[in-house]
Amino acid sequence: MPELTVSVDDRFDVPRAYFADAGVWRQELEKVFRHSWLLVGHESEVPAPGDYVTRKMGTDEVILVRTEAGELQVLLNACTHRGTLLCKADIGNSSHFRCGYHGWTFGNDGTLRGVPRGRELYGKDFDKSSLGLRAARVSSFHGLVFATFDTELCSLAEYLGDMAFYLECMLGVSAAGTDAPYGSFRFTHLGNWKLEADNLAGDGYHLRHAHRAGFEMGLMGAQAGAVEGVCVQFEHGHALRAQRTAVDDDQPRAFPGYPEDRWPEIEQQLSPEQARMFAHSTVVHGLVYPNMAFVHTPRAGGFDAGETDAAMLQVRLFNPLGVNETEELNWLVTPADYPEEWKLSAFKTMQRQHGATAFFESDDLENFRRMLQVNGGVETGHQVPANFDLARDVAPFTPWFDGPGSVVGADISEVNQRWFYRTYLAAMEDRA
Ligand code: FES
Ligand SMILES: [Fe+2]
Repeated sequence: MPELTVSVDDRFDVPRAYFADAGVWRQELEKVFRHSWLLVGHESEVPAPGDYVTRKMGTDEVILVRTEAGELQVLLNACTHRGTLLCKADIGNSSHFRCGYHGWTFGNDGTLRGVPRGRELYGKDFDKSSLGLRAARVSSFHGLVFATFDTELCSLAEYLGDMAFYLECMLGVSAAGTDAPYGSFRFTHLGNWKLEADNLAGDGYHLRHAHRAGFEMGLMGAQAGAVEGVCVQFEHGHALRAQRTAVDDDQPRAFPGYPEDRWPEIEQQLSPEQARMFAHSTVVHGLVYPNMAFVHTPRAGGFDAGETDAAMLQVRLFNPLGVNETEELNWLVTPADYPEEWKLSAFKTMQRQHGATAFFESDDLENFRRMLQVNGGVETGHQVPANFDLARDVAPFTPWFDGPGSVVGADISEVNQRWFYRTYLAAMEDRA
């Protein structure tokens, strides 16, 4: 393990080995991923009994399934006989999962139901009850399904803490709940997973440089105008960055990107403090520690003629397949009962900006790959740690809202990244 001890207020660098060492990768799976609530999917992906999708929690293969009784379960996708991958499909519907090796068969609630020639070969007292699929704790938040195998970890509500206040602004606008109408999109890219976490947690600094072409093409919409912004940090390592169009608070509230006839419902659904924070929004993005991120852009710009102006909320998950390779899944999450054409317009915005080959995504992925390219350098490893000094001594100005969390009234700062790495490094150092 690279040497490193940080206290909260010290300046600190992150040694390059944290992005390059396969031993660190194994340890963070044990020390960070095993002790966190991890996103696995959206409830709308498995609406009916028997519906399932296969996912990863870190590097563990799991099945998110709705049981015959209608419950959500997250099961380790590993046969308890010899550990063979049980379900090989990405998505499907089944009351049972049968192993391809010796044929053990499990119900979609994980119980071991059938063992070929069981009585004859194992005896009539063979106890199948202890050989069910290993099940995680499961908990949902506005349709997003999280899971953990840590039986000691606090509840999801406690884990999200004050981050829930901000997530609800985006996920709670409709009384009908949320939907993931286009399912999930999966791809892998070269780069360490933490680069994506740190970028999405609050890197406002790279926008006008790495994504300059997007700004020049008008794709940033309202973000390119006069804005004010904040960075907010929360217990358990979560962080977000938000901007709104600079307005006086006595101006009538607007929720750009949402149909105007739904604005009264938004006001009703959100608390007055949430509505104040969310009105006039130009962008909100952040990290639910360790590996879920979200991007919300109400007015993206670059529409086709006649296209509806629709707010886009992308939820992302990044799993470290190795120290140098990351699997990303993302979903468009919309209010469940909004019109189809609104959802389609939001989807186009997502694919144009943040899909696997989109304008902003490809800029970021290329920078992640270039960092990976230098990580193998021995001298580089000794001399070039990752630096997070930006806006360390810049006094916060007063933010525009009264929301919870540690609110820093600056939208270009590395305070969120420092918070993410401090939480991460504390876990790496503390959990022997
Ligand atoms: S490994 Fe699954 S039945 Fe043998
Ligand atoms: Fe970016």
